[in-house]
Amino acid sequence: MDKYAVLGQPVAHSASPRIHAAFAQALGAQLSYEKLEVAPAELAATLARLHEEGYAGLNLTVPLKSAAVALCKTLSERARVAGAVNTLIRDPDGWRGDNTDGAGLIRDLRANLGVALEGRRVLILGAGGAARGILAPLLQQKPAFLALAGRTPWKPEEVAAAFKTLGPVAPRTFLALKGDRFDLVINATSAGHQGEAPRLPPGVIAAGTMAYDLSYGKAAEPFLALARAQGAVAHDGLGMLVEQAAESFLLWRGLRPETAPVLASLRRAA
Ligand SMILES: NC(=O)c1ccc[n+]([C@@H]2O[C@H](COP(=O)([O-])OP(=O)(O)OC[C@H]3O[C@@H](n4cnc5c(N)ncnc54)[C@H](OP(=O)(O)O)[C@@H]3O)[C@@H](O)[C@H]2O)c1
Repeated sequence: MDKYAVLGQPVAHSASPRIHAAFAQALGAQLSYEKLEVAPAELAATLARLHEEGYAGLNLTVPLKSAAVALCKTLSERARVAGAVNTLIRDPDGWRGDNTDGAGLIRDLRANLGVALEGRRVLILGAGGAARGILAPLLQQKPAFLALAGRTPWKPEEVAAAFKTLGPVAPRTFLALKGDRFDLVINATSAGHQGEAPRLPPGVIAAGTMAYDLSYGKAAEPFLALARAQGAVAHDGLGMLVEQAAESFLLWRGLRPETAPVLASLRRAA
């Protein structure tokens, strides 16, 4: 039986074991998938041990995605560009790092929610690992305008500069968004984990905006409530979670599971 696991801190809340168990059952695959609580300082030793123990693949969640970049034997282009790894694939001599978050988001937006991004005005809130992971795939969709805003003024500037060869990204402070309007506003901050929504000037989210939070469950509630109070249509990141998991499953096992039944069952359980 092939062994897989998700590593993070905290990891108890992770829905990944349930998602991968459902994929395996649907495809008749024999595998185990555990959650392992791992502190950043323990990551290098844990990755070496799990490789030695024969694990076939791993997922990484907060706060391990950036630290893992330096611990992979090889990296996919999209993981290198993102500077973050969420999927590790076993190679004989070490771990190959990849990043399926951006592909998962685009698939949820396009295939599940029917959102076309070409020619639209898009705003990303937050300049951390998740924002970096979704920037390149969003640029590939050819939005008319892509802005990246954060609460620490120099961070959006730094990220925009790092991505400038892939396409134009307009760095903004939250305050500088005053008067701007967007078709899609993506919350890639972790504010919801502290029970908060990013503090935006009034009018940035309005009727006609689609709001999307990469978080799901309780962490998505503050931003979704803020967006709905402004008349926006708002979605959480549960669909992205299932889609990025399907991309990981494909990398590990060469088959892409159907996601709709798994997403529907998670929504029923929520
Ligand atoms: N659905 C999925 O599959 C999926 C995949 C990946 C990530 N996510 C979610 O995406 C979120 C971000 O993850 P990450 O890996 O990017 O985390 P991260 O690297 O720690 O970055 C967090 C970002 O949020 C900002 N932030 C934190 N608290 C804030 C507040 N109160 N107001 C405004 N900005 C705030 C930080 O700003 P500073 O830099 O100024 O501190 C930083 O830009 C998490 O909630 C994670 O669960 C979901």
